[in-house]
Amino acid sequence: MNRDDFNMLNKDIIYFDNAATTLKPKQVIDDITEYYNEYSANAHRGDYDISLKVDNKISETRNLVKEFINAKETSEIVFTSNATDSINKIVFGYFKNILKPGDEVLLTDSEHASLILPWFELAEELDLKIGYISLTHDLQVTLDNVKKAITPKTKVIALSHITNVVGDIRPIKEITQYAHDNNILILVDGAQSIPHMKVDVQDLDIDFLTFSAHKMCGPTGVGILYGKEKYLNNIHPIIFGGGMNSSFEYNGKRIYKDLPYLMEAGTPNIAGIIGLGSAIKYLNSIGMDNITKHEQELKDYALKKLKQLPNIIIYNETIKSGIITFNVKDIFPQDVSLYLNKYGICIRAGSHCAKMLKDEIGIKNTCRISFYFYNTKEEIDKLIEVLNNPNILQDVI
Ligand SMILES: Cc1ncc(COP(=O)(O)O)c(C=O)c1O
Repeated sequence: MNRDDFNMLNKDIIYFDNAATTLKPKQVIDDITEYYNEYSANAHRGDYDISLKVDNKISETRNLVKEFINAKETSEIVFTSNATDSINKIVFGYFKNILKPGDEVLLTDSEHASLILPWFELAEELDLKIGYISLTHDLQVTLDNVKKAITPKTKVIALSHITNVVGDIRPIKEITQYAHDNNILILVDGAQSIPHMKVDVQDLDIDFLTFSAHKMCGPTGVGILYGKEKYLNNIHPIIFGGGMNSSFEYNGKRIYKDLPYLMEAGTPNIAGIIGLGSAIKYLNSIGMDNITKHEQELKDYALKKLKQLPNIIIYNETIKSGIITFNVKDIFPQDVSLYLNKYGICIRAGSHCAKMLKDEIGIKNTCRISFYFYNTKEEIDKLIEVLNNPNILQDVI
């Protein structure tokens, strides 16, 4: 789909590393270039036309994000620098102020470092307990396992909607319902779901959601922090400075702005936010349901073909998202990816920032293919042809 919009696809590469970052269409690049060429002013600062245009563009993007995830208010949408930044701001700006020693945070061991490490830090600081929701034999999270993990001390569940290694899609609606019935808040890491499927924060009743523009056809350097207004109203900024204050005086008296500006100190990534807005318009023009469907078709097709090859071990066959995690028997994953690189095929090898998952799948490193809407069955055919080689190891060297 839409391959002509991507200059990177004219470079004789097959790009299968979309879970790391996606390619950017011309429309997004053009809108960013237009900002720098035509109205390159700062935000919130000027009373002249081009500065007002910047403010309007930022408001427009905030509104596009609100509609995209069906938030209630634009004030619930905070721009950050990436999903990691969003998670840290929630953990240290909100949960640090409400959790008490002995309270428990539930995670899973297949989460990305960006979701795990802020909690480890806060747990050490506040003497919190970290608990883990067990995964099923095929590495999924079920409501039953969530119920089993919850204790009277559980106050927060933090988990990805879709994980970046296994690609399993969590039953977020069931989990939030059960959690809320038990006075537990939910932080959902949407880095791998928002780009690939329709997500409605009100329908799923998500308390906090985080994601990154660069994984959804937007530029790097922009993240999104969503929080229900009633919780965000009690969030404390962890970065202070220009743009987030209304006044301050010699004696230290200061008045800070309301949300979302309270959480957006300093000059924002204006070009990035404009690019995020155009990425959302672009994804909307394709249709999120069409994106999901196309990726599922690619995944089914690739799995069928991969299974016909000798020596391929697949770790997430039953999972529906567009991520395939595999190994070639007896070959180190980095060697597989170096070998594929010789044919212009870009995949990811390693632990993919989910460093505890090794204990679940029994191996530290894997190869990961992750699709997006511009990938094709022909690209998969090429991958299969190249992988169907008994001498991969010799060919790497
Ligand atoms: C599931 C998940 N969460 C969080 C992140 C962090 O995203 P970023 O590096 O854009 O902050 C990633 C990035 O790969 C991810 O896959």
